[in-house]
Amino acid sequence: MKTAIVFYSMNGNTKFTAKTIASQTGADLIELKPEKSYPDKGLRKFIWGGKSAVMGETPKLLPYEFDADKYDQIIFGYPVWASNFAPPIKTFIKDNMKQIAGKDFSVFACCSGGGAEKSIDKLKNYLLIKDFKTSLVLIDPKDKPKEENKNLIDNFISAI
Ligand SMILES: Cc1cc2nc3c(=O)[nH]c(=O)nc-3n(C[C@H](O)[C@H](O)[C@H](O)COP(=O)(O)O)c2cc1C
Repeated sequence: MKTAIVFYSMNGNTKFTAKTIASQTGADLIELKPEKSYPDKGLRKFIWGGKSAVMGETPKLLPYEFDADKYDQIIFGYPVWASNFAPPIKTFIKDNMKQIAGKDFSVFACCSGGGAEKSIDKLKNYLLIKDFKTSLVLIDPKDKPKEENKNLIDNFISAI
């Protein structure tokens, strides 16, 4: 089964997780980057990113390579923003909805505390699916490494 990990990361925690999963599974990494990048430091990142998530924006993305026919499974990875999935993921789905329909979907969300389950529910609704094959929530895995994250990632990989 060929897998694509489609992810957005502002500060590297999601990217760290995506790379860890890819290195253990051979999945392809597809990193999404907005044409106009969000401020990534200080209060401004919370204001602009938070507003974008709350408003349900779909920011234009820089070109990326993604051939849906190559993949049976897609894993989405994102930072939780205001209890929502980060907007670049929304853009990707909007732009590829027809091509990805019917595939297996899994998800991992990085957060600093709360709202991840809500964000996963919102993603599920946006994808019009009943459930993900499996899901994983990690708390700032790059910035606050924890021994237990390794097991959580291993369990996730076994379930995909
Ligand atoms: C705009 C914005 C909104 C956020 N909202 C939440 C939130 O609702 N809940 C939460 O637990 N963490 C929230 N965070 C923290 C990030 O989800 C968390 O630090 C994540 O690990 C960052 O991933 P990244 O390094 O891949 O960008 C928010 C961060 C930003 C920038």
